[in-house]
Order: sequence, then C-alpha cells, then structure tokens
Amino acid sequence: MPRPLVSRSAGALEGTIVVPGDKSISHRALMLGSLAVGESEITGLLEGEDVLRTAEAMRALGAHVRRESPGQWRVAGCGTGGLAEPDNVLDMGNSGTAARLLIGLLATHPFVSTLTGDASLRRRPMRRVTDPLSMFGARFVCREGGRLPITIEGTDEALPVNYRLPVASAQVKSAVLLAGLNAPGVTTVREPRATRDHTERMLTHFGVLVAVFRDGAETVIEVTGEVEMTARDVRVPGDISSAAFPLVAAAIRPGSAVTVRNVGLNPLRAGILETLRDMGAAIRIDNVRTEAGEPVGDVSIDATELRGVDVPPERVPAMIDEFPILAVAAACAAGTTRMTGLAELRVKESDRLSAMAEGLSACGVALEEGQDSLTIHGTGHPPQGGAMIAVDLDHRIAMSFLVLGGATGDPVAVDDAAPIDTSFPGFADLMNGLGLRIADVITP
Ligand code: S3P
Repeated sequence: MPRPLVSRSAGALEGTIVVPGDKSISHRALMLGSLAVGESEITGLLEGEDVLRTAEAMRALGAHVRRESPGQWRVAGCGTGGLAEPDNVLDMGNSGTAARLLIGLLATHPFVSTLTGDASLRRRPMRRVTDPLSMFGARFVCREGGRLPITIEGTDEALPVNYRLPVASAQVKSAVLLAGLNAPGVTTVREPRATRDHTERMLTHFGVLVAVFRDGAETVIEVTGEVEMTARDVRVPGDISSAAFPLVAAAIRPGSAVTVRNVGLNPLRAGILETLRDMGAAIRIDNVRTEAGEPVGDVSIDATELRGVDVPPERVPAMIDEFPILAVAAACAAGTTRMTGLAELRVKESDRLSAMAEGLSACGVALEEGQDSLTIHGTGHPPQGGAMIAVDLDHRIAMSFLVLGGATGDPVAVDDAAPIDTSFPGFADLMNGLGLRIADVITP
C-alpha cells in the first residue's frame, strides 16, 4: 500500500539528534563479518530494509547473523571462500549496493545463485559489474539490458583481475575487490575519479592487505586474495547521507540551529558539507574521532542566507546521493546553482535528475535540466510548493520534497513515503521532533 505524506510550512528547527547508521558501512560490515573467522559484533547497524535484505542474504549463504538488541548484531562468518549455495532466490529489495556487492562476492564462489529485487532494482544496470566479474571466470545470465533477475555461476578457478573503472562507482569497485578476496594473487582496480572507500577501509579493519596509491590522476587499489579474515567489532557511524536532510531542513528555515551527533565524515562522502559551506551555510564540526577506520564527528548548522554556487564536477562522487537534497537547498538560495557531471543520477533508485527537475518545477522553481546537468535559479526565498510528487520507489526523492515542504508557501506532498524505510526508518518522527510538520495524507 502506498503511504502518502504531506509536509507544511514550519517555524525554526531546533535540536540535537542522531540519525540511523550508515547504509554503505552497514552492508559491508555484514558481508565482511560473514566471511571472517570468528564472531564480529556490529553496533549502530542501520535497520533499514536495504540492510535487512543483506542480513537475510548472508544467512541464506551460510553465515550466522543474529540481532541482539536494536542496532546491535553478531555475525559468525564462514571464512574466505566459505559461503554455501543458497536454496532459493535472494531478493535484494530496493538495494543496488546489496545486489552489486553480493554479485561480486558470489562470482568467485563455485555454485549457482539467483538474485532479484523490487521494480526499481530490476530496472537498474548490472552489466557494469558482470563485465569485470566475467574476467574472474564467472558466468552470468540476466534479462535483456543486463537487468535483474540474474543467475550467477561462480568460478572455482578464479583468476586475479586488473580493471579500470569506466564509471565512477564505488559499487563496481567494491564488487571487483570482494570477488578478488577469493582469487589467488593480487586484484587491482584503477579509478579515474576516487569514490567512497568504505570497502578498502573495512577490509583493512578485518586484516586484509589493501594497498592504495596514486598513479598520475588515477587511484589504484590492490587487494591480496585468499587471505583469512579475522572477526572484528564494527561501530557504524550515523549516515551523512541521512544527516543531510535535517541539515538542509535547518539551513532553509530562518532561525534554525540543529546538531547531528556521531556522523560519518569520510572525505569521499562529505562533499555536501563543502558545498553547503560554499553556499554560505554556517557549519561546525566537533568531537572528530576514528571508529572502525572511519572518521566520525558531530555536525552543527545554523540557518543563514544561502547563495547559488557552481558545484565542481570533481566533487560529484563525494556527494552523489546528496544532489536531490542539494537541489532543495538551491531552490531556496539566492542566485543560480549549476550542477554538472550528473549522468549517474539517471540510474539510481529512480532517474533523480528528471524527478528533481519535474518536482521542483511543479513547486514553482525556475530551472533547466540537461542530459547530465541541472541548473536551478533561486530567488532567495522558498518556492510556492503546492505539488504532489511522484516518488517512484526512491527514498531520497521522498525525503527531499518533505524537507522542501517545511519551507514553501503551500504544502508539498509525496505519493508514497514507504521507500524511506529502506535507509531512514523514523524519518518523519525525527524531523517533526525538530519542528517540521510532516503528516499522513488522509485518503477517502
Ligand atoms: C554506494 C555507492 C554509490 C551510492 C550508493 C551507495 C556504496 O553508488 O550512490 O547509494 O555503498 O558503494 P554507485 O557506486 O552506483 O555510484
């Protein structure tokens, strides 16, 4: 059942909150814990639907995964190469990360497995992972256009691979590195543009030898395979991609002051903070520390008048999931914001470029949508609002427009808020606790 929600103009937002655990790190903690020898304790795990799909899949592949208390999980792994053939199809729901990383792991396990997902995941491209994973010796059968469902015939004679990423994608990089774990010798990935390095950091945390170096403009990552991993405890920080919603909500409501504690600040993820600062936002970071190889801190923001900026295209991978909420900030800022190099936004949970362009236009925002760009002309005041937005199974589109509705003249509604549970369970309550006014739409 679709769950429509509506957001109405609110006063200043105030408060100190924590957001749910980082989605990228949560998937990786479950997967690496499932391959390590011994029992790993994970705290702060995101209990959103995407990560719960990964937990279920790792169980189906033979790992012992159990929930002790909210956010606290224990995983007893099977050892490198020790996953077992699942006796049914693995359903990865809405999660591209779960699907692509798992296809990587399964490529070098010598059995047959089949993965599927929801309507959104079934339209997303998988050739970007099956092309490099075929080089290990694995074979794949999928639907036309490289779409799920996919059947994977993993190889038992894996060859190490040397692969240059044609698109900036941490999921593709991670799929190759994870396949390389069960291949002899050194697997190498070359990135023309650095992407989030959670896999590299967590592999190191679990005792795998990972070398990272620069070669001209490229980043080169080398993983040594067939190494036994040892169980490790992981404390998952709050997700900066989730924190971005309350931070922008505060930035666009005069008089607001919000702090999000315990946020992951990996420099290859935190580009939204730099961009908001460029726009004139007053952001403070305190209490910086390192947990499970990841930088973590408390982020505070005070509302200020925002101005339009040009977002440097080289910053795109470090804020790839934050463009929907940045577009909301840009719609309330004074002047023009130009975002370029956004082709990847068209193959996320939805086509986010057209979803933002259509939704913001319907709310009265002047903009131009290009093939891989979005230009937004802000007036220095929030737009009129008054639209019902089609979410198209995309959690970040839903949350972005609910944040916008807290500032617009007329309310903004989303036709289905259910996908928010994939990454940010409790979003509406948490935001309302800060002073936003999100409510159910009463349908006859
Ligand atoms: C992710 C990588 C990014 C990001 C996604 C999570 C990851 O996808 O959009 O939400 O955890 O590796 P791409 O690799 O497709 O850019």
